[in-house]
Amino acid sequence: MNAAPTPITDILGSEGVLTDAADIEPYLTDHRGLYRGRALTVALPRSVDQVSRLLAWCNENRIGVVPHAGNTSYCGGATPDESGRQVVLSLKRLNQVRGIDPLNYSLIAEAGCILADVQRAADEAERLFPLSLGSEGTCQIGGNLSTNAGGTSVLRYGMMRDLVLGLEVVLADGRILSTLSSLRKDNTGYDVKALFMGAEGTLGVITAAALKLFSKVRSTATAFVAVPGVPAAVELLSVLREASGDRISSFELIPRIGIDLTTQHIPGVRDPLKQKYEWHVLCEVTSSRASENLSELLTEALAEAFESGRVLDAVVAQNDRERAALWKLRETIPEAQRLDGASLKHDISLPITSLAQFVATAGEWLRVNVPEGRLVAYGHVGDGNLHFNLNQAAGTSRERFLGRDAEIKRVIHDMVRESGGSFSAEHGIGRLKVAELERYASPVELDLMRSVKHAFDPNGILNPGKVLR
Ligand code: MLT
Ligand code: ZN
Repeated sequence: MNAAPTPITDILGSEGVLTDAADIEPYLTDHRGLYRGRALTVALPRSVDQVSRLLAWCNENRIGVVPHAGNTSYCGGATPDESGRQVVLSLKRLNQVRGIDPLNYSLIAEAGCILADVQRAADEAERLFPLSLGSEGTCQIGGNLSTNAGGTSVLRYGMMRDLVLGLEVVLADGRILSTLSSLRKDNTGYDVKALFMGAEGTLGVITAAALKLFSKVRSTATAFVAVPGVPAAVELLSVLREASGDRISSFELIPRIGIDLTTQHIPGVRDPLKQKYEWHVLCEVTSSRASENLSELLTEALAEAFESGRVLDAVVAQNDRERAALWKLRETIPEAQRLDGASLKHDISLPITSLAQFVATAGEWLRVNVPEGRLVAYGHVGDGNLHFNLNQAAGTSRERFLGRDAEIKRVIHDMVRESGGSFSAEHGIGRLKVAELERYASPVELDLMRSVKHAFDPNGILNPGKVLR
């Protein structure tokens, strides 16, 4: 890496530019180790004004800017290319909660805030910020917004886009767009802010957001349930939705292999059930009323489902420690997959009514055609979102397994399209899925996306090569 050009140091001060190779290193690779880039410099502005001046300078000089948040992306969205001509921009020093308005159920957070810190700030004000992800201790609000993050409570509260009231964004030419109001109703023409969410930093750099809050959760019941198959899991969801008065906040599918991988690789994880089953669901019901006996409600509903054959066995967490153990099992599946060896990820969503059929058909295709891989299908079944991943099977060649990526992806994603689903449910496009977007988006959509990109970033300096090329 070269030393930062003087104008960048002039704008950010020496403390706003990383120079030590060891400090720079984490910004050059992605979480999955799929990409390794180089950078002109790593910029750490401490104010919106500095972001604005930096972007104006980069725009004038046609220098690419790669926004980088918690680096937990699965699609290489925050990694610079190999040219060494791009500036990596981290907003981690813009990490203040600017204000909380409990009466309005809203909070304003800067982009560099860690998600868990925002959850904590809301909690201290007796409110809930509901976005919840395995990486919440590391990922940043700016990244959550830019990728329209999902996670484990989308079923009840929606994705990040649904949790936003207003945004502050620095545009490619350095102008600052502020729609940071906390209004719930604002029908004043095009919803410009909506475009930045899911744009992965290709249209502007989000510096702060007004976020929606909800009533703090005061009663929770969590169950780990063995089900006879995916069809039963889907049916159980609607049974529990009705029984709980639509208060299911999470409904996660976990296959046998998810338990095998986590118990093998993650210290302290154990199978919550005595017998071994093939399919499981981790479900949670929550309420803002402290006096609710949700465990009783959930136990009764599960007992009825047992009678009707939709449940084989279940355990309801008796305290917070047991609840945390169930969640640890679910949330460490990706880490266990990583520790187990090479994996191929398909972050897909389907209409929930087609989900079981898809798992059966695509699972059978993989079983017959991909002996090098083991299917690890899990995830947010309540949202129709599956992580239809594959792990390299024991005793097979890593190169041969990874070498089949394109071919397998094509079959799986084509099947997803035939079932009316999406090839990218919650992980975004990044660099990894640019070709997939070109294949599966309609020409009209792509044309509109390119026009929007050109209107917002005519010189193509913002996260070049991500989402669109
Ligand atoms: C998760 O839900 O755990 C992650 O989004 C999934 C993944 O690693 O594919
Ligand atoms: Zn997920």
